[in-house]
Amino acid sequence: MQGRTEVLDRKIGRINATYGQDWKKTIDDVFDEVTLKNLQQLISQGIISTIENVIATGKEGNVFRARTIRGENRAVKIYRINTATFRKLEKYIEGDTRFKNSGNSPRERIFTWAQKEYKNLHSMRAAGANVPKPYHVHKNIVVMQYLGWRFRPYPTIRELPPKEPEKFLLMLKESIKSYRNQKLSHGDLSEYNIINRREEPFIIDVGQAVPDSHPLYSQLHERDMKNLHRFWKKYIPNIKKEEFQI
Ligand SMILES: Nc1ncnc2c1ncn2[C@@H]1O[C@H](COP(=O)(O)OP(=O)(O)OP(=O)(O)O)[C@@H](O)[C@H]1O
Ligand SMILES: [Mg+2]
Repeated sequence: MQGRTEVLDRKIGRINATYGQDWKKTIDDVFDEVTLKNLQQLISQGIISTIENVIATGKEGNVFRARTIRGENRAVKIYRINTATFRKLEKYIEGDTRFKNSGNSPRERIFTWAQKEYKNLHSMRAAGANVPKPYHVHKNIVVMQYLGWRFRPYPTIRELPPKEPEKFLLMLKESIKSYRNQKLSHGDLSEYNIINRREEPFIIDVGQAVPDSHPLYSQLHERDMKNLHRFWKKYIPNIKKEEFQI
């Protein structure tokens, strides 16, 4: 795998030495040949210029901090092209009328998934919800606003619960109302997917969000609201589940 590391080193740019071994492992894990090519295309198109560091590694994909040629940060989410990813996302794409005519191969379905995340970010943001601004989608890669410090993303509310829970929750509910007005269900809303940006909520991880034409629309939203109630009652002891009828 030495070869690939060199290609990345040369083509993708500066790699922080502190990521040494981890980075190499990540390269083998996530940068399969197709992804490497797709990333290269993003760089040639001038969408990003360097990949800086790993933000998160997961089963279905990885998130990196990248920079544009003008030195602005971006979060780059790369879906792994494999059958596990394909299996997880299938039930959310199937039934989403926005993507009726997307391809059939696992690889094409994963590309559709990235488009779905991009589109969901776009709709939610247009509706006024606090989600990262989407910049670009290309094959299995979504480029969006980076929420974080130089070397570390802002924490999730699981990692850093808000100092003023009532105030924070009010803002969060405004975001939820906004995307509900657009008839969308997030589908994986929990303390893991809400970022605490200096005491302001940002909702992330919207790939699985579905519109009201989808058979899981209501069920997913109910589950999301249950999750929120379970989390928030730790910080607002008397909070009722009716508070989450959004
Ligand atoms: N726009 C962003 N800016 C900064 N950090 C981000 C951004 N998007 C995601 N992250 C970080 O990457 C992590 C994983 O992102 P996300 O939840 O979108 O992906 P995921 O593949 O669903 O991961 P998981 O399976 O862990 O939920 C987040 O917990 C967060 O720390
Ligand atoms: Mg997540």
